[in-house]
Amino acid sequence: MSPEAEPIEIRAQGLGKAFGQHWVLRGVDLQIARAELVAIVGMSGSGKTVLLDLLTGLLEVSEGRVLIADHAEAGSPLVELSELDEQDLDALRMHWAIVFQHNALFSATVRENCALWLRENARMSEKEIDKRVRWALKAAALDVDSVIDKHRDALSGGMAKRVAVARAIAMDPAIIFYDEPTTGLDPIVAGEIHGLIWDTHNLARADGTRRTSVLVTHDKDLLRRLRPRVIMLHKGGVCYDGPYDEFGKDGCGIAGEYLSAMPVLHARNPG
Ligand SMILES: Nc1ncnc2c1ncn2[C@@H]1O[C@H](COP(=O)(O)OP(=O)(O)O)[C@@H](O)[C@H]1O
Ligand SMILES: [Mg+2]
Repeated sequence: MSPEAEPIEIRAQGLGKAFGQHWVLRGVDLQIARAELVAIVGMSGSGKTVLLDLLTGLLEVSEGRVLIADHAEAGSPLVELSELDEQDLDALRMHWAIVFQHNALFSATVRENCALWLRENARMSEKEIDKRVRWALKAAALDVDSVIDKHRDALSGGMAKRVAVARAIAMDPAIIFYDEPTTGLDPIVAGEIHGLIWDTHNLARADGTRRTSVLVTHDKDLLRRLRPRVIMLHKGGVCYDGPYDEFGKDGCGIAGEYLSAMPVLHARNPG
């Protein structure tokens, strides 16, 4: 590792997951460093969400292991997820935020949605929480005064996604995970969310360290615009792992097939 290299945030080794006899993932190795923007792609049913759930400890691994940087400790040492009890896992999760595919906002106002985690975890006064919530909504490019007292059910799809991202930003996470952040949004709103993901990735953290973003997506425009590192899953394993600009050029046959189903991307990669 060169001296200027960023520390490792996530390392999966020989990772596998079976449901009954059905192995969804097998032998997955990957490593994600701090400050990386990584997109996990693959056909529907290829195990993208399962991988995200394994990396975040929402699912138990069947084989292999997941190591994650523990930001509660000095130097953020890597710890093995399966060796943590619920309490340690909760402490670890303090430093991550997950933006779920369907946002997982609870039935209350925008303010309550953004404040709840802070109230339960951040030892902040109500005044400080209010300030933080407003700052996060603004960072998510929302008009704070017009949106803060709206009920979840009054939000459009794009606004609900912004609120879900604002809630994540309010936590100032070291790692932010997104599952299909633009699925179901119209192309214009999806384009705005691409910008929001980019801005959130680059938003300075309170301690001055860089944020890591991991997203599951099959949005070709997102890949084209954000040019992330791409990890492609196929037949239970990683069939491509590298820069977006090389994606589909390295002999991973399935990546070519995947790209040909993605006309915009393909147009960028003739031959
Ligand atoms: N809880 C579960 N029980 C059984 N099978 C599951 C479960 N979750 C996911 N699967 C299976 O794992 C495979 C990958 O699912 P998923 O990760 O959701 O795919 P995607 O890449 O579309 O996100 C699918 O075949 C799915 O049926
Ligand atoms: Mg999925």
